[in-house]
Amino acid sequence: MNQTLKSWVDEIAAHTTPDEIVWCDGSAEENRRLINEMVEQGELTRLNEESYPNSFLARSDPRDVARVEHLTFICSPTESEAGPTNNWMSPADAKSKVWPLFKGAMKGRKLYVVPYIMGPAGSEISEVGIEITDSPYVVVNMRIMTRMGKIALDQLGDSPNFVKGLHSLGDLSPDRRFIMHFPQDREIWSVGSGYGGNALLGKKCFALRIASTIARDEGWLAEHMLILGLEDPQGNVTYMAAAFPSACGKTNLAMLVPPESQDGWKVWTVGDDIAWMKFGEDGRLYAVNPEAGFFGVAPGTSTKTNPNAIKSLEGNSIFTNVALTDDNEPWWEGMDGPPPAHAIDWKGNDWTPESEGVGAHPNSRFTAPAKQCPAISSKWEDPKGVPISAFIFGGRRAKTAPLVFQSFDWEHGVYVGASVASETTAAQSGQKVGVIRRDPMAMIPFCGYNMGDYFKHWLSIGKKSDKVPAIFHVNWFRTNNDGKFIWPGFGENLRVLRWIKDRCDGKAAAAETPIGFVPTPESIDLSGLKGVDPQTMKDLLSVDPDAWQDDLVSQREFFEKFGDRLPENIWQQYRALEQRLNAQRAESA
Ligand code: GTP
Ligand code: SPV
Ligand code: MN
Repeated sequence: MNQTLKSWVDEIAAHTTPDEIVWCDGSAEENRRLINEMVEQGELTRLNEESYPNSFLARSDPRDVARVEHLTFICSPTESEAGPTNNWMSPADAKSKVWPLFKGAMKGRKLYVVPYIMGPAGSEISEVGIEITDSPYVVVNMRIMTRMGKIALDQLGDSPNFVKGLHSLGDLSPDRRFIMHFPQDREIWSVGSGYGGNALLGKKCFALRIASTIARDEGWLAEHMLILGLEDPQGNVTYMAAAFPSACGKTNLAMLVPPESQDGWKVWTVGDDIAWMKFGEDGRLYAVNPEAGFFGVAPGTSTKTNPNAIKSLEGNSIFTNVALTDDNEPWWEGMDGPPPAHAIDWKGNDWTPESEGVGAHPNSRFTAPAKQCPAISSKWEDPKGVPISAFIFGGRRAKTAPLVFQSFDWEHGVYVGASVASETTAAQSGQKVGVIRRDPMAMIPFCGYNMGDYFKHWLSIGKKSDKVPAIFHVNWFRTNNDGKFIWPGFGENLRVLRWIKDRCDGKAAAAETPIGFVPTPESIDLSGLKGVDPQTMKDLLSVDPDAWQDDLVSQREFFEKFGDRLPENIWQQYRALEQRLNAQRAESA
């Protein structure tokens, strides 16, 4: 028995006073037992055993349906270490305000000890975490999302080096909800929420907020990125990692199925949300997916948009806050076929297509094992990871950002990542949806330290090797004046990935613009693509200097928040872009 672990569990049990302590081994039998208990207590609904074998529906508290950024804190010793984009609470205040919320919190409940590995077992990039939770829903989700149980204890052995995560549902009140991070202790406390990123502590809390601080200290990267392999008709695979904000298309891009007209091309899924990357001996960055499952957005997922996700979730999956049909099947807006004539909505009420509200919550999710994805890469559990050739940043921008562009070099690419902005989505509570906010590297909710230092860290990565990935920016979400998307997206995004690969290979043509290299209209293969005429393509690739000038105003406001913590190189890049835009305007005037 690991002594550090044992004394921590004793300490937490003494404070939270559970009725029983359960050490989770991750076995199928244990999982069955937990699920049966939850079904008996009405916490899970068994779905249609024929169409969705071994799958279940969960409904969370209706006030607990997404991450809560306003209740998420970085408790570093000083406020400046957390930086202007994080909420900060001093460790002393956390002790006096939040620790008492755990007192007696597990009375009448069981305390589950959940050991888990982030990353492939035995990989040098992997790390062990232990989550203590009083939610069996968390346990069964962690079993899908991580390598959980005995395998993790075996990897840990006697070592005291594990990330401690303490989670309690508390009374689920948003008034007593806190998601706390102590990077200096590699510790997480979460109370008052049972939902996704607030409660499955391996995901955003550990693999991003805590891991980003470890990565800064050790010279690697922990990013909110999907990882994919693009295979060409000759069988060569190019790996890329892409950072888009929450609910902006990572899962979809990671599982892309090429359109029929793009015969011979194939996309392999390595990960859909998080990438940990370290330098290999050859000077390239190698990425692993620390997770073992997908916690994907359900609405909009169909055999048309994401057939691989549909195939991944057809068994052994958990659905949270979707609707339930009279055939005991999950349902959400945007699924195939007509909506059911009658269903039970995500709150548990009767629902028909005439009902006022939605059937499934916009942030309803499926939890599915990654190995069930038909396109899962043969390398997805390779302890070495996969070598990354391209980084892709992106967001939801109705205007301004073109379909795709490439940065001039690494430093400019870091600036492009630092200046990402995107419309907010339903993945975060307490915020209006559809408002533009700056979201550098899609990490604004997930960076565990001062983002000024984070940009510095990114700049330093580029100095470590001359084989760092090329950096791109994409936008699938340009709209016309009627608010309609003008790019078909989804499988058709392959055409953009091909341009990116060709650029990495030094092949595709590009035009130099003030913001970077933009494809020439002929350099993107549009064969067999319906509905995108040459004028639309021109609009998609256009760079409007006035719109970018407006964006610079918003960038300046954002960057100024960091004071002298913002690396001077970012300001240099900012001023250089401003000058290039001015020159372009002078030329066309
Ligand atoms: P998180 O799990 O929150 O990190 O989200 P994600 O980045 O993995 O987003 P996901 O792929 O689940 O997509 C979220 C929403 O964007 C879904 O409703 C998709 O249908 C939609 N979406 C994804 N790709 C595209 C695209 O290429 N075009 C358009 N128009 N919509 C897209
Ligand atoms: C996100 O919001 O970016 C997610 C879902 O991937 S959650 O696990 O809730 O963070
Ligand atoms: Mn995410």
